[in-house]
Amino acid sequence: MILKTFDDIEVKGNRVAVRVDWNVPIDPPEGDKDGYKILDDSRIVASFPTFNELLDRGCRRIYVFTHLGKPKGRDEKLRTFPLKNHFAKIYPRYNKEKFTILDNIRFDPREEKNSPILAKRYAGFCKAFVDDAFSVCHRAHMSTVAIAKILPSCAGLLLQKEFKQLSQIRDHHKKPFVVIIGGAKIEDKEPMISAFAEKADWILVGGKTALEAEKDGKIKKQKNVILPVDYLENKQGDKWDIGPKTIKLFLAKINSAKSIFWNGNLGKTEEKGFEKASYEVAKALADSSAEVVTAGGDTEALISKLGFEKKYQYVSLSGGASLEFMAGKKLPGLEVLKK
Ligand code: 3PG
Repeated sequence: MILKTFDDIEVKGNRVAVRVDWNVPIDPPEGDKDGYKILDDSRIVASFPTFNELLDRGCRRIYVFTHLGKPKGRDEKLRTFPLKNHFAKIYPRYNKEKFTILDNIRFDPREEKNSPILAKRYAGFCKAFVDDAFSVCHRAHMSTVAIAKILPSCAGLLLQKEFKQLSQIRDHHKKPFVVIIGGAKIEDKEPMISAFAEKADWILVGGKTALEAEKDGKIKKQKNVILPVDYLENKQGDKWDIGPKTIKLFLAKINSAKSIFWNGNLGKTEEKGFEKASYEVAKALADSSAEVVTAGGDTEALISKLGFEKKYQYVSLSGGASLEFMAGKKLPGLEVLKK
């Protein structure tokens, strides 16, 4: 698939709508105007190359569209002004004459309904559309699909990078290829595990997904899937991390790999004492000479906490979208940007 680029739209002198994904963790969500703290601004920083490109090409004004959380109608706690204030502080080329940061695009129910009427409203004052939010491309929403159908559109630099790196590991990985799956929500992970039944040499499953996979006959039968052989439990007997024997088993496979894809932490890393497996795996990947691509918000947060971002080939900022893409599904937000 070839995506449209900046050369396919007219930027000079025009107002351009840009879809970013600034769905970032904020604390405290109910603070006053100045009390908001952006806990991880990686997704905001990752938009800078696209803004630089647009400004260099003489864009008249950039209209920034993002969602934040999953509001049901207007919600004061999910407004975008803390994002705007933070962006204005950290983006060296910020200028209020050049940027309009719209409020949470999901406050309007027509966003999730992929409304062409709402898209036409924005097309009334913007001459082009840039999608820089790969992480939302699995949603057929107004700001990913309807607007791209109406305005001359292209993929932003972050979206292009995510597309290229995830395509590379999905379609052109080296063998042995090891996939590591953790986190929760088996329903999101199962399509990917099935899609890699033939392609991956080993699929190592941890996190809550492993507990759910143990009850899933189809996954259990899959020959290249390795489920935990032991767990670390909390005082109540809940299995909150994979155990030492499983870590050893996983590390042996990781050390034999030439390509590795990792999505989802292997234990409840937010609880002290249950982050060991994820740390050990993160460290083994950092030391490995294999090409390593990771995805998912929690995994990205863990990697940046450990300072390992630069040790891997690519750390994707996408969660659900990357899983659907890796599973080979068509993402509506990408289909509409095809050349
Ligand atoms: C994400 O964080 O994965 C994206 O922002 C998509 O968010 P959503 O699941 O609310 O659509």
